[in-house]
Amino acid sequence: MTLGGDAALRLAEPRLAQPFAELVARNRERLDRWEAWAGDLSGVDAARAMLTSELQRFAAGTTVPAFVMSHGQLAGYASLRVEPVNRSGALGYWIGADFGGRGLATAAVGALARFGVDELALVRVSATIAVGNVRSTALVRRLGFRLDGVLRSGQVVRGAPGDVEVWSLLPGEFGSG
Ligand SMILES: CC(C)(COP(=O)(O)OP(=O)(O)OC[C@H]1O[C@@H](n2cnc3c(N)ncnc32)[C@H](O)[C@@H]1OP(=O)(O)O)[C@@H](O)C(=O)NCCC(=O)NCCS
Repeated sequence: MTLGGDAALRLAEPRLAQPFAELVARNRERLDRWEAWAGDLSGVDAARAMLTSELQRFAAGTTVPAFVMSHGQLAGYASLRVEPVNRSGALGYWIGADFGGRGLATAAVGALARFGVDELALVRVSATIAVGNVRSTALVRRLGFRLDGVLRSGQVVRGAPGDVEVWSLLPGEFGSG
């Protein structure tokens, strides 16, 4: 799926575990700050295992895992975890520091949300964001997401419980932010 310019979303495949693990390693500090999973993802074997299970969930119709590409280079990751019964999807995303601040993450997350609504007929797409992660809330706000509320101690990062905001977008709200 092209994102304009030389950017694209492509299905995340385990054969790119090596560059994926390297990108995670280069961004370890900033990922660890906001992402509960980041501490467990260290090295190429862990990356391959994670990408393999994401691909299995894709085959089962419960996840859309995507690499964010820029000029043919792996730049970040975005995924849409689908809950078929409620026709809703939960987004996860991050972008390498070298690729931030130029709209790439916004384009990638927007395209994945639109894919969920247009192709998977989702009635709700959400993002759960640690309170204080201003770049992430700015991103979803730009796309038209609205704040549902705060989950107290909604995630544990590096052993510490922290509050999270739940943001959501319904069909028809794209670009309304
Ligand atoms: C959250 C995260 C993905 C946001 O990335 P980002 O770099 O802010 O997002 P973008 O690449 O879309 O950049 C937006 C910026 O690019 C600018 N920009 C430049 N060209 C743009 C364009 N064509 N379209 C949109 N924005 C553009 C925007 O003005 C904005 O700048 P500002 O922040 O100074 O206002 C990133 O900070 C990250 O990976 N953080 C670590 C992991 C994380 O927190 N993940 C989310 C967990 S919920």
